[in-house]
Amino acid sequence: IHDDEDIQKEDNIRCLTTRGHFGFECLPCQLVNRSIQQGFTFNILCVGETGIGKSTLIDTLFNTNLKDKKSSHFYSNVGLKIQTYELQESNIQLKLTVVKTVGYGDQINKEASYQPIVDYVDAQFEAYLQEELKIKRSFFEYHDSRIHVCLYFISPTGHSLKSLDLVTMKNIDSKVNIIPLIAKADTISKNDLQKFKSKIMNELISNGVQIYQFPTDDGTTAQVNSSINELLPFAVVGSMEEVKVGKRIVRGRHYPWGVLQVENENHCDFVKLRDMLLCTNMENLKEQTHIQHYECYRRSKLQKMGFTDVGPDNHPVSFQEIYETKRQEFYDQCQKEEEELKWRFMQRVKEKEITFKEAEKELQDKFEQLKMAQQEEIMKLEEERRQLEEEIRDFYKMKATSETLRAQLCTNIKKD
Ligand code: GTP
Repeated sequence: IHDDEDIQKEDNIRCLTTRGHFGFECLPCQLVNRSIQQGFTFNILCVGETGIGKSTLIDTLFNTNLKDKKSSHFYSNVGLKIQTYELQESNIQLKLTVVKTVGYGDQINKEASYQPIVDYVDAQFEAYLQEELKIKRSFFEYHDSRIHVCLYFISPTGHSLKSLDLVTMKNIDSKVNIIPLIAKADTISKNDLQKFKSKIMNELISNGVQIYQFPTDDGTTAQVNSSINELLPFAVVGSMEEVKVGKRIVRGRHYPWGVLQVENENHCDFVKLRDMLLCTNMENLKEQTHIQHYECYRRSKLQKMGFTDVGPDNHPVSFQEIYETKRQEFYDQCQKEEEELKWRFMQRVKEKEITFKEAEKELQDKFEQLKMAQQEEIMKLEEERRQLEEEIRDFYKMKATSETLRAQLCTNIKKD
């Protein structure tokens, strides 16, 4: 970077003064600028019983008022409510999708309560896979709806997890990053809360449920993340109510015996959850979704479709080879089906031919019988006609004789 004043220096040596960064050290700035321009997306799945505090917590997390009307307890099946919001904080745009369970835990038979959740998560993976497989992909405009995190709301019973919690978490843990939360943690005492937390973790471990582990391989966040992993599940309290504490206005819940401050780390783990979710680990959650959960879905889907990376002899197989093999298989299958169809068609033609021939023969026989009967009838009629003609001839003969006799008789009478 040149500066005219700097060029002419003593001894005629050209001096340059740098103004800002140059070279590839600017690369991160380019990424930051592009990301800010594009905006961010984040998709949260909230699983928990009706009225457990899902909407209030989301409002508290994003400092918004997204609440819609309360859900009923009388749905016959578990459903999902999906809402997308465009949020902005300073110059950062966030497209937030919140998917909430509706009617979760309200049915007598809770056996398949997890199914709509599994189906939804899979459907988002499928949509992404379909976009990936398109010839003309448009990821720039594509709204990635894959779930980045599942906040699982546990009832503050202080006792243990419900079987529904375990079954659901077990069925979704390979598809989504689960962060367990003890909801409405203000309803449980500090001592009970610690016991409850360790009880929950023991139950999750003994049932082989995988929950999201905050990454400890990044130097900058390793320490804080490992201490947070010890703290799980987060005991959270949600509230958008503004309460006066001394001279400060804080968000909290006002009780006859005092105020619970949502953002006070001595009162609950809300701030830790918010920091972990939004400030420190959002990118990691998205990355895990892509490289772990989506990858797993994609792999099993492509394997089901017959794709593979290595052949039977453990040699790498190219996409082209698989495509050719599949095309050949498909061609062979079509040929086989065509031949089968032809053979079945010929069989049916033969069967029909036999049936027609039999019917023709039957008709022919009937025709012959009728013909014979008709001939017999004709002969009989001929015979009758012949007899009648004979009778007529005899009659005429007799008539002629009698007329002759009558004429002779008349002549004799006249003579007498
Ligand atoms: P649905 O969407 O209808 O299933 O409800 P939800 O799970 O979104 O619960 P919501 O946020 O509507 O809260 C239900 C009730 O619980 C409201 O009266 C909230 O004020 C209350 N509530 C929410 N969070 C807390 C909390 O942390 N502690 C306590 N004590 N009450 C809470």
